[in-house]
Amino acid sequence: MPQPLTSSRSARLSGRVRVPGDKSISHRALILGALATGRTRITGLLDAEDVTATAKAVAALGAEVRRCDGMVEVAGQGVGGLIAPGAPLDFGNSGTGSRLMLGAVAGNPIVVEFTGDESLCRRPMGRVLKPLNLMGLEVDDGRATLPLKIRGTDDLIPIDYTLPVPSAQVKSAILLAGLHAPGKTTVIEALPTRDHTERMLGYFGAELLAEEREGGRAITICGDAELHGAAIAVPGDPSSAAFLVAAALIAEHSDVTIEGVLMNPTRSGFVETLREMGGSIELLDLRHEGGEPVADLRVRSSALKGLRVPAERAPSMIDEYPMLACLAAFAEGETRMEGLSELKAKESDRLAATEAGLKACGVEARIEGDDLIVHGSGGVKGGALVKTHMDHRIAMAFLTLGLGADAPVTVDDTTMIATSFPSFAALMSTLGARFS
Ligand code: S3P
Repeated sequence: MPQPLTSSRSARLSGRVRVPGDKSISHRALILGALATGRTRITGLLDAEDVTATAKAVAALGAEVRRCDGMVEVAGQGVGGLIAPGAPLDFGNSGTGSRLMLGAVAGNPIVVEFTGDESLCRRPMGRVLKPLNLMGLEVDDGRATLPLKIRGTDDLIPIDYTLPVPSAQVKSAILLAGLHAPGKTTVIEALPTRDHTERMLGYFGAELLAEEREGGRAITICGDAELHGAAIAVPGDPSSAAFLVAAALIAEHSDVTIEGVLMNPTRSGFVETLREMGGSIELLDLRHEGGEPVADLRVRSSALKGLRVPAERAPSMIDEYPMLACLAAFAEGETRMEGLSELKAKESDRLAATEAGLKACGVEARIEGDDLIVHGSGGVKGGALVKTHMDHRIAMAFLTLGLGADAPVTVDDTTMIATSFPSFAALMSTLGARFS
């Protein structure tokens, strides 16, 4: 049953809050924990549907996953030690869980079925399967979307692979497969994508090398690796924090601090862009936690101005574009967000869904090729019903927009918010946001 929700103009948002753990790091901690020997103890693991699906998959592949004393502990099987699950692995809505796991399973001589929800079964898997096929993974019927049945092998071939699309998921899948291939596997990326897999692999003891080459950054993993279980503290998710940052910027007289937000440079494009647009966002107590840079963000209401957001910046804020586009509607002047073709391959076609939602709210927006252009006029009419296409980030972006709009904004369904940020409405409400 769809669960609509309405947000209304709010002011004086205030308080100190923490957002839940980073989704990307949470998936990786579970998967690397399963591929390591010994125990991996994870604190701050995101408790949301996408990550639960990965935890279940990891358990079905033989790792022991248990909750104790507010942390999650994974007892791993070692590289090459995964066992055939008794049933298909269901990744729900999660592109990250399913794509990374394809790479992790590739180096094990087992047959595994992968499936997911309607949205995940529409998303492209060929981008991951192509390099994994080159390494020796077999896919029944040559399918390129879920559901699919794959046959791993303990005889993988190391490859050199240039990413055709800037995707951390594809990069990660290849590196995870490379763990169990003899020799060196190299991935080359023209634009830097999130580097949590590389960081965590190094932290678990894998031998890894990153160097600049002509075509971009080359990351090499040495195969036949051994990983050792480690302690992981998951920092706050900047993609979830983005909605709170946006709310504080557009709701008048607001002053909000979000503690412990991941500030990895491959993820901080949203904050960087908003500061350029005139947003008052202070990075307080910049520190390192669990091998990642983290800061507290103090955000105050701000008058924003439109600008051009270059395509090179897209990977560092790829999940934040729906929210950025909504913020651009409150800015003065035009915001042109360039090079957004990857938005079409997310949980929904986010380029089309964002444009349609903005237009419904009375905002002048248009798509030109792969660019999204929003004409800001300092305010937003709202008073609309926005279609979320079962996409959690579209739902949260437009609910946040409603907090600054003249008339309330309703989104048609909020159930998918549970995939990444179940406490979204509750946390926003503690700051003073109005939902009904
Ligand atoms: C993710 C990478 C991004 C991002 C997704 C999480 C990851 O996808 O959109 O939400 O954890 O590696 P792509 O790698 O497909 O760009």
